[in-house]
Amino acid sequence: MNAMIIAASRYGSTTQGAEWIAERIALADVDVAVHQAADAPPPDQAQLVLLGSGLYAHKLLDELDGYIDRHLDALRQCKLALFALAMRTSPVFVRGQAHGGLAQLKPYFDKLGDALVHADMLGGQMAFSRLTAEDQAGLERFYAMLKLTAAEVEQRKAARTLMNKADYWAFAEEALRKAGITS
Ligand SMILES: Cc1cc2nc3c(=O)[nH]c(=O)nc-3n(C[C@H](O)[C@H](O)[C@H](O)COP(=O)(O)O)c2cc1C
Repeated sequence: MNAMIIAASRYGSTTQGAEWIAERIALADVDVAVHQAADAPPPDQAQLVLLGSGLYAHKLLDELDGYIDRHLDALRQCKLALFALAMRTSPVFVRGQAHGGLAQLKPYFDKLGDALVHADMLGGQMAFSRLTAEDQAGLERFYAMLKLTAAEVEQRKAARTLMNKADYWAFAEEALRKAGITS
C-alpha cells in the first residue's frame, strides 16, 4: 500500500499539516511521502493521493491547481482526499446567506468526481507581521470591505493558530477508511 501527499504552502502551515497527516498514515502501515505540488511526481502507483493547500481569498494555491490539471486523468484513477487550511473552516452568515466552509471547494468536487473520497477544511495559521507586503495589502483591503472595527482588525493581525494535530490525524483516519485501506 502506498500514499502520496501533495502540498501547496506559501508560509509552511500546509506542509506542517501534511507531515502530521503522513505520520498518521504511516501508523496504518502505509508507505507515504509528502511532496511540494510545484515539483511533485505523477500520482502513478499511489492507492491514495491526498491533496492539500492553504486557502487564499477562497481559492487554493495555483501550485495545487497546476498539479491537478497536469495529472487529472491519472488522479481520477486513484482514491483522492482534499484538505484546505483556513482561518475560518465553517460557513458564516452574511446578509441572508451562508458563505465559506467546505462549499468553497465545490469546483474541486466537480473536477475530481467520484475519485474524491474525502474532503475537509482544517485549521490554519497566520502571522500578519510575517506576510509579504502584497498579502498584507490584500488582507487590509478585505478587512476594510468587512468594515471591521480597529479592535477587530488588531485581533485578526495578531499571530493566530488553529492548527491542532488531532484534527489532522482524524482527517487521515477518515481518508484511509473511505479509501477502503482501513476498516
Ligand atoms: C492573503 C491571504 C488570504 C487568505 N484568505 C483566506 C480565506 O479566504 N479564507 C480563510 O479562511 N483563510 C484565509 N487565509 C488564511 C490562510 O488560509 C492560512 O493562513 C493558511 O494556514 C495558509 O496556509 P500556508 O501557510 O500553507 O500557505 C488567508 C491568508 C492570507 C495571507
